[in-house]
Amino acid sequence: MDVFEAIKTTRAMRRLDTSKPVSDADIWTIVEAATKAPSGGNSQPVRWLVVRDEEKRRKLGDIYRECWAPVAEMYRGRTPASDVTTNRVLNSADYLGEHMGEAPVIIVPCAKGGDPGSVYPAVQNLFLAARALGLGTTLTTVHKRKEQEVRDVLGIPEEVNTFALIPVGYPTGQWKEAQRRPVEDVTYWDTWRSVAPRPADGG
Ligand SMILES: Cc1cc2nc3c(=O)[nH]c(=O)nc-3n(C[C@H](O)[C@H](O)[C@H](O)COP(=O)(O)O)c2cc1C
Repeated sequence: MDVFEAIKTTRAMRRLDTSKPVSDADIWTIVEAATKAPSGGNSQPVRWLVVRDEEKRRKLGDIYRECWAPVAEMYRGRTPASDVTTNRVLNSADYLGEHMGEAPVIIVPCAKGGDPGSVYPAVQNLFLAARALGLGTTLTTVHKRKEQEVRDVLGIPEEVNTFALIPVGYPTGQWKEAQRRPVEDVTYWDTWRSVAPRPADGG
């Protein structure tokens, strides 16, 4: 798959086909892609905990559900019914809130130290590689509210941080372009807030 196509169509895929297994070969491929990302001083601090065990996934799912509930309530409290876009995201996130534990695989990027700067570029590589293989992913972080419980399930030492719970599986929905603001709106040239139109020929 063309890299730009993968970038455009990689988005939060929260509804996963729980009956379609994900191969170990594909997991190795996407984690290897993650390991190719840059890190501060090439320190390569991230360890990838691949959770396949059904009981452990169920426990992570229970923790995730408890973490998502108050966050959902907070967002709902400040989202009017007329805000269709945000409500759609919330409904999708509610679904994951209930079903995280059923994802065929949950990947947990871990590292000592709290700086996510060496973690998230690698996570994005993992997402893009997964997309190229037709696998859906979502970056989730609400488990941080009960991070020690996640550590306990997976035997992670206290000095190691968990940066995300990433459900991986074949999506039930369609791949389509992620909705993002136009590049012209978020790009300034030479001076703060100085926007410019993009020439039709690409510039
Ligand atoms: C730092 C970060 C944390 C996120 N945490 C969660 C989360 O805990 N739960 C969740 O369902 N989605 C989470 N998301 C996913 C975003 O909601 C999602 O990327 C955004 O709504 C855009 O959705 P789209 O890619 O489908 O367009 C997170 C995304 C980022 C970048």
